[in-house]
Order: sequence, then C-alpha cells, then structure tokens
Amino acid sequence: MSSEGLHVPRERLSGNTYALHQAITSLMEELEAADWYAQRADDCEDAALRAVLLHNMREEIEHAAMLIEWLRRNSSEFALQLKTYLFSETDIVPAGHE
Ligand SMILES: [Fe+2]
Repeated sequence: MSSEGLHVPRERLSGNTYALHQAITSLMEELEAADWYAQRADDCEDAALRAVLLHNMREEIEHAAMLIEWLRRNSSEFALQLKTYLFSETDIVPAGHE
C-alpha cells in the first residue's frame, strides 16, 4: 500500500496510528468522490446518466459513513466528538465557543 500522505516514516507510526491514517485517507477519498459525482450530476444533461451519477454519489456517501463508524469504533477521540455532535439538536457551535 502507498505511504502517500504520511508525514513521518512508516516505521515510526504505531499500528493504530497507521490504521487511522488509512481510514482517514479513505474517508477523504470517499467524500471527494461524493462531491465530484454531485457536481457532475448537476452538470449532466442526460437524465439516465444523471440518475447513475446520483446513485454513485449516494454509494460514496455510504462508504464515507462506514469509515466514520470504523473511526468511532477505533478511536476514543473520534468517538467522543461524534457522540457530542452527531444527531444533536442544539446549536452545533455551543455558546461561548464562537
Ligand atoms: Fe467509495
């Protein structure tokens, strides 16, 4: 596997940090793909192709969600922040944090 995106030598990273890097890099790729499909769908004049692009966009979002869940299960830091913010009904930025 490529070590692209690493900022220190691979051998200096713990197994957990490297796995987190793989998940985070994959999440970035899935989000980028979802963004690309959404933009292409907006720009597409063929209705059938547009439907395919939007289907693909939804699949990339599903992949992103699976990676976020993996991060939640494997990083207490992600778990803490996701528990605080996901599906909350209050202001996203709490008073005093602006
Ligand atoms: Fe994907």
